[in-house]
Amino acid sequence: MGETNAVMSPMQGSTDAAVTARVEALLGRMTLEEKIGQTILFTSSDTITGPTGARADLADVIAKGNCGGIFNAHGVANIRRYQDLAVKKSRLGIPLLFGSDVIHGYKTIFPIPLGEAASWDMKVIEASARTAAIEASAGGLNWTFAPMVDIARDPRWGRIAEGSGEDPFLGSAIARARVLGFQGEHLGADHSSILACVKHFAAYGAAQAGRDYNIVDMSERTLREVYLPPYKAAIDAGAMSVMASFNEVNGIPVTANRYLLTRVLRDEWGFKGFVVTDYTGINELVKHGIAADEYIAGKEAMLAGVDMDMQGGVYLDYLKKMVDRGDVSVAEINQAARRILEVKFKLGLFDDPYRYCDEAREAALSRTPEHLQAAYQMAFESLVLLKNNGGTLPLKLGGKIAVVGPLAEAQSDLLGTWSAEGYTHSPDSILTAVRKLNPNGEILYSKGCDVSSGDESGFEGAVKAVENADAAVLVLGESADMSGEAASRSSISLPGVQTKLLERLKKTGKPLVIVLLNGRPLAIERESSLADAVLEAWHPGSKGAEAVADTLFGKCNPSGKLPVTFPRNLGQVPIYYGEKNTGRPFDPANPCEKYKSKYIDCPNDPLYPFGFGLSYTTFEYSKLRLDHKTLDPNGSIIASVEVTNTGEREGAEIVQLYLRTHSGSVTRPSLELKGFQRVTLKPGERREVQFRIGESDLVFLHSDMTWGTEAGPFEVFIGPNSRDLQSEECVFTVAPGRQ
Ligand code: NOJ
Repeated sequence: MGETNAVMSPMQGSTDAAVTARVEALLGRMTLEEKIGQTILFTSSDTITGPTGARADLADVIAKGNCGGIFNAHGVANIRRYQDLAVKKSRLGIPLLFGSDVIHGYKTIFPIPLGEAASWDMKVIEASARTAAIEASAGGLNWTFAPMVDIARDPRWGRIAEGSGEDPFLGSAIARARVLGFQGEHLGADHSSILACVKHFAAYGAAQAGRDYNIVDMSERTLREVYLPPYKAAIDAGAMSVMASFNEVNGIPVTANRYLLTRVLRDEWGFKGFVVTDYTGINELVKHGIAADEYIAGKEAMLAGVDMDMQGGVYLDYLKKMVDRGDVSVAEINQAARRILEVKFKLGLFDDPYRYCDEAREAALSRTPEHLQAAYQMAFESLVLLKNNGGTLPLKLGGKIAVVGPLAEAQSDLLGTWSAEGYTHSPDSILTAVRKLNPNGEILYSKGCDVSSGDESGFEGAVKAVENADAAVLVLGESADMSGEAASRSSISLPGVQTKLLERLKKTGKPLVIVLLNGRPLAIERESSLADAVLEAWHPGSKGAEAVADTLFGKCNPSGKLPVTFPRNLGQVPIYYGEKNTGRPFDPANPCEKYKSKYIDCPNDPLYPFGFGLSYTTFEYSKLRLDHKTLDPNGSIIASVEVTNTGEREGAEIVQLYLRTHSGSVTRPSLELKGFQRVTLKPGERREVQFRIGESDLVFLHSDMTWGTEAGPFEVFIGPNSRDLQSEECVFTVAPGRQ
């Protein structure tokens, strides 16, 4: 629906006979050990992203042909050295894959993925991934461990920062956009096309209690309807590698999970690429309690469908023995090696193993003005204006502004988690960007406090600065290391004494603007009530400070919308827009009724709903209508609405369409996002926005786990977010005989 469904898969169904022939010819020349070698992936010592370091004998392992890929190696010169070992020293000279976590930019850092998702702009998100691919490939890499598409509904989980938030429809659209951006027209299309790796398959975002690596226990319905769609979307878009997640799902760790890795991924979805574990994922099967030792762990992983062992060395140590003992067949090893070799052929590595090792490209393509401009555009579109009382923002240029808070001078914290090679260059801080934008104004700076310490000795300096200013910008939030992998929090409040600082500054009576830097939804009910304006900036990347400053002072008009619900407090978690109704739904008109699904100490609704975000202008929605009341076989219904810019400046609005099913054989979410469009309107301009609703938008899992539709009725809602929706009794049903 909308523009997002237009994206087609470049790889879908393509059987490249020439590649197959070359792979088979090569396999025919390989020893069993050499085939096993292809299934091995080891880290270099450049960066270590897990609990074990690089092997001392790595060079030897590569030269013997016992390694199919290296990850975490950086720079062409370095990567060339590794490739030399494989190509010149090993018997068959099979080139290596070079992987890395290029998650939101390589040298030029874009906003964290959760921030990118707030743009709801697939073109700009695809451009971000493309830019990352250009820089990473120029740096010698041919494989990124991205996109991370885990749906996440628990903000305690630090890795919520790496994904696209809570919704499968938005998440699927973004998954597609990122794969297309990384791989380009098709895998290996040119030397900036790098292999995408969709991760972490599957349901890693549902780790219990938001604690990283924790178990996942969920119904098959929720798994298939909510968590799996974005992985499928990435695969349909051509992603040729999949990373198995660390977690167990319903009692079986994914690394040993045949149901997920073979039945769903291969048999149902037709995935043709290869599956890699996460870091030492096979070894960890022992601690999970599913394998008595590493030999059994390796066997379980191979039989489940794991083709490549990341960093654990289990396949290297035991696969041959497994074949000798008859626990694993040569055919199974051939299959794994075949899938990996096929990708190497498609990347063009057999035609030129040094295709990605071009020093001139490396020098020319890092942090170019175009890349920085793309990062700026993405950062600007990721900003979400959560509150703006009485037109506090934009601030006037040339005035006296206090900039306070522990993150005002932050530089590397702006880059966020997984910033790859971004640290080789420091971005401007928000303080610097505000100063540069205000050569004629007076900027008074005071830090006030640290991010997490309890020290209040800086409060008085901050009070003085604010008292002497016309307005204050408070840059508050979380440092970069407070989200991402192994960075779960048991509180989602502002850390340290930041709220106390805000409370103290409130007494000055000056207008207070909060700029929030964070990797997760934070519970900021009190902070938001004290502030006059709140701008959600996530960790906005290399050009984030400029985008924030330009937005604060009105050079840009914010347009981002939350891709994830902001709760009032942690007790509401999990909270997401599509919650089901229950048999005793809370009735806002009768809030005191006892026997209703509610809290006695807190409202049910969130602080800021999914899809929410303000603008410096205002939009009015009117004349919502459907062209039909019945969806005919193979037909569609057009839902339209008029959107008018009723304010005084140009602005972009993300118009959202949701569906609700009133009755059916299975209970449904109270709302489901099924379309969105971005429209830019001049003051006074009105535009009709249309959405096409087809049968594929209505399918859900019946009680027997088959997909299908039912008669409905379906109610159509359109609006600026998941809370402030219009329906005007726009209801349709599905024609009989089609369900
Ligand atoms: C572990 C993380 O879970 C995964 O996302 C990452 O790609 C690997 N380490 C490699 O760094």
